This record gives sequence, structure tokens and C-alpha cells, in this order.
Amino acid sequence: MSAKISFLQYISRNLMKQDRRQFLLKAAAASAVLALRPFSSEAFSPNSIPSLPEFKDEEKYWKLVRDQFPLDKTKTFLNNGTMGPSPYPVINEVTQEMLHVDTIAKYGGYEEETVAAISNFLGCEKEEMSITRNVTEGINIVCWGVKLNKGDEVIITTHEHVGNAGPWLNKSVVQGIILKPLSPGKDAQETFEIIKKSITSKTKMISIPHVPCTTGQVYPVKEICAYARTKGIITMLDGAHPPGMLNVNLTDIGCDFYSGCCHKWMLGPKGTGFLYVNKESRKLIQPYYMGGGTDLGWDLLTTPVTFKGYVENGHRFYYGTQNAALLKGVIKAIEFHETIGKDNIEKRVKSLSGYFQKNLVAIDSNIEMMTPFEEISRGGQVGFKIKGKEMTALQKYLGERAITTRYVAENNLNNLRISTHIYNSFAEIDTLLGHIADYMKA
Ligand SMILES: Cc1ncc(COP(=O)(O)O)c(C=O)c1O
Repeated sequence: MSAKISFLQYISRNLMKQDRRQFLLKAAAASAVLALRPFSSEAFSPNSIPSLPEFKDEEKYWKLVRDQFPLDKTKTFLNNGTMGPSPYPVINEVTQEMLHVDTIAKYGGYEEETVAAISNFLGCEKEEMSITRNVTEGINIVCWGVKLNKGDEVIITTHEHVGNAGPWLNKSVVQGIILKPLSPGKDAQETFEIIKKSITSKTKMISIPHVPCTTGQVYPVKEICAYARTKGIITMLDGAHPPGMLNVNLTDIGCDFYSGCCHKWMLGPKGTGFLYVNKESRKLIQPYYMGGGTDLGWDLLTTPVTFKGYVENGHRFYYGTQNAALLKGVIKAIEFHETIGKDNIEKRVKSLSGYFQKNLVAIDSNIEMMTPFEEISRGGQVGFKIKGKEMTALQKYLGERAITTRYVAENNLNNLRISTHIYNSFAEIDTLLGHIADYMKA
């Protein structure tokens, strides 16, 4: 079968043996997809997006970007913080490579290319990058790999996602480390001071989000990591959100470890992530899972058996067969971002969230803003509450009006989170503001 076979042909050839009703239903669904967009990567190559400066009317440019996404146009999706919908070039790349791999019956590879693309995108060396499936996996690799003793203290925050809380809680149960959860300050300076004051002679590690899932506040991680280094404290950042939202440079941040994903703000395939391990810090974590690609050689025929050690790069932390289709999708997602420009994306994402934040607080004095207004602490997410109200009710109200948001239940915060990415528009924010204003009046 040719790799160029259409999606509809593929479905019809392969479903012949199935129940006829089932087949017709699936074929109808495939036709609907085709009616929406032809399944051809050429038509939606990132290169087909012109550059932003060519547009006098910026909104027209972002409308063109929006057209690159199959994302349901009858709804307003303001929850990229949970899931980043991919644009057509990524989806096409994944589906075509999946078909290709199974046509030629070879796994496909693309690990080196993916590691190179992510490192280049996030400003670090290739040797410092590992492939993972998600943020949680990277955090677990570091959490279990780092040697801590009973009674050693690890600083986390009261705004953790389970992906950073779970591994450390488990380590506290299994190995007796002590967790010190801190509440972040109202701005970068205060957050930095709180962290500094919480450090004791027993603090061995700081493992906090770069941007928490709760309020979207951008923490002053560069300052925190630099300070921690002077005290000999290891730093791990939960980077679920910033890559693809902010113009992240890992070398500049100066952390020991950074675990991120490609399935949120990078808009890549789901179940793709990465772990950055600063080359100076590689020795601080013991790899526990070994397999294809992790080692420098082994021999079971010698006595005793021979193990020549771990590779001197990020491959010591991932192993075995990878999914070439997903990896190619990650490379395409990065190409998509770079075509638009990391700075342009950060600016757009922040201007949408800033517009929302400013106009939201003007609606009613009972609206409590949880995300700082100061520029350095803002990204593409805004968290807020309404005094005396259960925020699940507002989430439901907005959901009934086709607007998807995220309710933050973590640590009883009871707030709503609005995420704004490049496929969103000011018109959508105006609609959201209008609904919130109506809700406050009701
Ligand atoms: C701050 C934060 N950390 C970790 C995670 C977990 O990410 P993953 O599902 O990629 O492991 C999330 C997911 O929403 C998150 O928001």
C-alpha cells in the first residue's frame, strides 16, 4: 500500500470485513473530516503561514493561524493548560508516519532528530535532553534517581499538580524525606523571599513548577535556581506549561532538571515529553530503568558479567522502542512554533491573557484575581475566584455557553483558570467577559 493512500481509502480497504453499519458510520465520519480539510500535509505545511510583519492587521494573521487547527469552531476552548490541540501539520505528520511505519514494517527512529529539535527549541545541548512520555515521567526519573536521606527536606509549593506532588509524596513515604510545601507570594520578589527564608541546613532539593497549573503565575525560577546553587541545593522544575507559551531558554534558567511535555503549549502529539538534565548534574541522578540505548555495552558471557556503564547523554534515561510517528509530530510542532516565532507566540499569548485579566477585574469588585499583574509573573493563564461563590457553578455556566475552562480543585484553591493560546482571539475573550458579567448580575 502506498504511503500516499488517502485516509478514506485506508478506512474503506481495512474495514471491509466489519459489520456494514459500523463501516458506513466510520466512513461518514472520515468524509466529515475530509470535508473539513483535505488530509494532505502540503496544504498545511507550516511554511504556508506567511510571517507576521507582512500583516498590517494582526488579527487577520492570527485568524490564518487559527485556520491551521481542526479544533471545533462552534466552541471556545480556553483550557490549553490541560490539553494542547494540535494543528493540521502535526496531525498529518503523525498519521502519515504511522501509516508509513506499518507499511514498510520498520520502527522508524527519529529519536536523535527529536532530541536535537527539542534542545534547539529550548536552548540547551543535545546531550542534556531525554525523551519521555509526559511531565510526570520526567519528574519521577529525577525524584527516584536523586540520592536523598531520611530527614532531608524538599521544598515544593501548595500549588502542585499531582504530577509533581505524587512522586515526592511517595518518596516521603518510602524513603522518609520531609516535604516542605510553601505558598507562593503575590509577586516574583515575595515568592523568591519566601523560598529563601524556608531553606534550612536540611534542605537538599527544591522541586517547584516554573508555572503552576493553578493560577499561571510565572515564578522567578532563574533567581531561585541561582540562589539554590550557592547553597548546594538541587533544583528541579516542573515545566508542564512554559515551553510553547513563553520563550524558554533552559541554559539561561540554570536549573539542574526540567521536566516538560510537548502535548500542552507546544501543541504536539499527546503522550510526548522531555526531561532536561544539565550536563553538570547528570551524575546526581542514578538511572534505574535500563534497556536499548542506555548503556555503553554489556556482556553476559564474562565472569563476572560485564556492564560498561551509562551513555554520557540524555539517552541513559530512556530506553527501548519509541513511537516514530509521535516523534515526527513533535518535530513538526516545533517547526510550526518556529515558523510563527517564539517571541511572537509569547507576545500574543500574553496579550490575550492580559486583556482578559484587566477587563475581568473591572467587572465586579467581588472578583478576586489570583494571577499577578506584574509583567514578569504573567504568562498565558489567569486564575480567579469570586468572593463567596463556588467556582464549579461558573464553570458549568460557561460550559453551557460552549466555553471550556479549568476548575482548580487542587489544595482547595477553588478557582477558575483561563488559558489563552495562539488559536484564541480577542473576540472570544470579549464573549467570555460578557458571560461572566451576565453571571455576576444574575
Ligand atoms: C503543572 C503541571 N505539572 C504536571 C502535569 C502533568 O503533566 P503530564 O500529564 O504531562 O504528566 C500537569 C498537567 O496538567 C501540570 O499542569
